[in-house]
Amino acid sequence: MREIPRIAFYTLGCKVNQNETEAFSGQFREKGYEIVDFTAEADVYIINTCTVTHLADRKSRQMIRRALKVNPQAQIVVTGCYAQTDAEAIRKIAGVSLIVGTNEKSRLVELVEDLLKGKLLKGKEQETTINKPAPQIFVRKYQQGQEFEEIKLEKSIERSRAYLKVQEGCDQFCSYCIIPYARGPVRSRSLESTLAEAERLIKAGFREIVLLGIHLGAYGRDLGEGENLVYLLKHLLPLTEQVRWRLGSLEPVEVSPELLDLMLGYRNFCPHLHLPLQSGHDKILKAMNRPYTTEQYLEIITDIRKKIPDIALTTDIMVGFPGETDEHFQEYLKFVEKVAFSRLHVFKYSPRRGTPAASFSGQISPAVKEARSRKMIRLGEKLAKLYAQKFLGQTLDVLVEEKVAEHTWEGSSANYLKVRFNSDEAPRGQIIPIYLKKVEKNYCFGDVFQLQ
Ligand code: 5AD
Repeated sequence: MREIPRIAFYTLGCKVNQNETEAFSGQFREKGYEIVDFTAEADVYIINTCTVTHLADRKSRQMIRRALKVNPQAQIVVTGCYAQTDAEAIRKIAGVSLIVGTNEKSRLVELVEDLLKGKLLKGKEQETTINKPAPQIFVRKYQQGQEFEEIKLEKSIERSRAYLKVQEGCDQFCSYCIIPYARGPVRSRSLESTLAEAERLIKAGFREIVLLGIHLGAYGRDLGEGENLVYLLKHLLPLTEQVRWRLGSLEPVEVSPELLDLMLGYRNFCPHLHLPLQSGHDKILKAMNRPYTTEQYLEIITDIRKKIPDIALTTDIMVGFPGETDEHFQEYLKFVEKVAFSRLHVFKYSPRRGTPAASFSGQISPAVKEARSRKMIRLGEKLAKLYAQKFLGQTLDVLVEEKVAEHTWEGSSANYLKVRFNSDEAPRGQIIPIYLKKVEKNYCFGDVFQLQ
């Protein structure tokens, strides 16, 4: 092996996972590892998996195999939610070296180092077909009293927007969802530690920070009296005007009047909420164990819009849940149209082993799910355009994220519109005022606003 080990990362799934991979990558960099692209030949590959649907499982396995193809002799390390819930399936992929569950993440770097030093392999005689020992498995159940694990984020992050994870776990147990099993109950990051991390990110020059959690609205439930999300935001928003803040996914019933007041009061609090709807039919919502009816959801949205009329409301929607009929689905489309979301994330229901819904009767065929998903995605595109059109002729502050063509850049506005513009400079990471001129299929186009 090289003197300076090369390490590569691949992340599947949610923003929390991306944030955790970034934290690992920073820790390895500090230890002197060279970080390389996932397609390059590396000594160690870390695959941070997702298991929210069977497609996520499949993609996780594919990426493990892809790494093995690039370098069959490399150490393949698999972590994340799929590693936690189905280590057995991963163990069967010949060539995997190490499986690290979600409750051992804080030890990942140490375990990889032990692996490279050969410590972990001692005493293992079982050989797999490609002449590597059987994988070492570090997966254990969540233990009572286990606290929020702080994995430090390093500065060298390749994105414009920083993620700040403040909460882990979920105890809502929606009937379709495997995540509470994969990540355990609610734990929150302390105010002190969150502030310290925020200061570091601000110093590093990030202009936007996204607060993340698996169940973000449950933030603070395990901390002291009154320590909730609003309390946290009251400390974060005044830190500096240079940084704007965005919230990750929030349960609709957790949007409080105080939260909306903060959004109104602070210009650096992005007017955007992601409020998962999951289904547009009351019977299905009930079977999903969601804590609201469509009527209540609509009331919540109406109240939000009364205060912040142009707010961006995005959502997650699942199609093909057991028992969902064509009629339900039609109502569903009407409801989504009525709410007029500005962006939809559409998921096809996927039965997850061990969740109640997996054994519900009335499972829907893949073809029907596919057709419904397409219709829903099309509606989402239409609604996104309608929302974007409202902002034509206005100048919005755009955080520049990536170059999409020669001289063309793309970024996001505070209200989460994707905006493109031409520039000869390299403005990645900056916030630039853009005058919106037209709406294309998946983005808006505008010009850099210049004072005459
Ligand atoms: N099948 C399909 N989608 C799912 N999600 C969660 N569990 C499942 C499942 N079993 C979706 C939900 C959630 C998003 C992160 O993933 O819409 O909001």
